[in-house]
Amino acid sequence: KISTPASGLPLGFHGTVVHSHSLDELEILQDCFVLIDKAGIIQTLQADTHPDRINAIVADNGYAPDVFPVKYLRRGEFLCPGFIDTHNHAPQWAQRGVGRGLTLLDWLDQITFAHEAKFADPEYARRMYTTCVTGFLQQGITTASYYGSYHGEASRILADVCLEKGQRALVGKCNMNRNAPDWYRDQSAGESLLETRALIKHVQQLDPNNLLIKPIITPRFAICCDPPLLEGLGDIIREHPDLPIQTHFNEAKDEITYTHQLFPEFGTEADLYQRFGLLNERSILAHCIFLQEEEIHRLQELRCGISHCPISNTTMQDFMVAPIREYLRRGIKVGLGTDSGGGHSSSMLEVMKQAFVVSNAQQMLTKGRDPALSMHEGFFLATLGGAQVCGLDDRIGNFAVGKEFDALEIHTMDLEQPGVMSPVEADDSMSVIFEKFLMTGDDRNIAKVYVRGRSVKV
Ligand code: GUN
Ligand code: FE
Repeated sequence: KISTPASGLPLGFHGTVVHSHSLDELEILQDCFVLIDKAGIIQTLQADTHPDRINAIVADNGYAPDVFPVKYLRRGEFLCPGFIDTHNHAPQWAQRGVGRGLTLLDWLDQITFAHEAKFADPEYARRMYTTCVTGFLQQGITTASYYGSYHGEASRILADVCLEKGQRALVGKCNMNRNAPDWYRDQSAGESLLETRALIKHVQQLDPNNLLIKPIITPRFAICCDPPLLEGLGDIIREHPDLPIQTHFNEAKDEITYTHQLFPEFGTEADLYQRFGLLNERSILAHCIFLQEEEIHRLQELRCGISHCPISNTTMQDFMVAPIREYLRRGIKVGLGTDSGGGHSSSMLEVMKQAFVVSNAQQMLTKGRDPALSMHEGFFLATLGGAQVCGLDDRIGNFAVGKEFDALEIHTMDLEQPGVMSPVEADDSMSVIFEKFLMTGDDRNIAKVYVRGRSVKV
């Protein structure tokens, strides 16, 4: 029996709150009172509230003040929105860190397919997915957009585990019926589409209102999908127009060349995916390294989202830099992805840091035309930007009243607590404390994780 995706109890916090309103607007609220209702929705957010006023606010909101639970955050503690991982391969959890320095296609052939093949065993899938979802929650990932393996049953198990553990997730059965070993691929387009439909149905029964879980159409990439499969996925999207879509897009030179050999009739990957009905405002395109001008324009026009995965882009054989500043300048939605396990880390704090490093490289490569990302821009990409890419920004991504409370409770370190994080000193401003957390903090500083108001970090 899977429990309800909310705490079932109202909850209050008093203290510092940090969140983004937009790419360039970070807000730090001090002495803020946050009230979350029993469905996990933010009912009140009031900055500069003296603790003496909390009882009155609680009563105004229809609760009995004397029994209402309020958590008081101290200096160096604060709330921020949960991290949104816009690109994550759940079955690659146990292969992270293996195969560094290979090209993308060699890495798939030599490491990844054999590893993902293990998810044919439902017992293994349940154990591994339980560990991995727990691990991601520990790192503060309150929402993930997951690629499963090609197995239908394991993908349904992944959806079950996310709901059980209380993680918000887009869950995809990976479609792949060619250019992978016989023992690790869909045996036909028909079979691949049947399993995709079975996952959609399963999630519909599991979480009918998509409170936490939503299926996502997941062609691995065009190299692994023949035209009838891509055609069939386009049909499913026409039948279920609200479903998001994810794929790997212009990720690596060898991938782009091979795709062109397989589909010589299309000038670009944008042409190809658009032709099969897979590009729209719900598409999450991972990587986007080598886009032609007309492709950038197409993504802009169609309102596609980009998942920027700087760790995997700089760990495989080629050092690849996505021109994120250019995408942001064009108003294209951008979020961050761990790309775990192509990315060796499953920490969004690490991804943010690598996004800063890579954006410095891009600033140099463009002789200053593409300025590096600022601290608050990186944080935006990891939270509200990711929510936009996943089509969830009306529900999560910051603490606007009416949104669902997906949050991290951060406890920083001071001089008395030796740890990895840069210690907070008496004269540090809140923005310095926040910067110290982003640049030197890790999961030990993520004391609590909430999804829809429910505490989910074990
Ligand atoms: N392209 C096709 N499959 C994959 C994958 O598993 N990881 C990455 N990074 N790129 C891919
Ligand atoms: Fe990937």
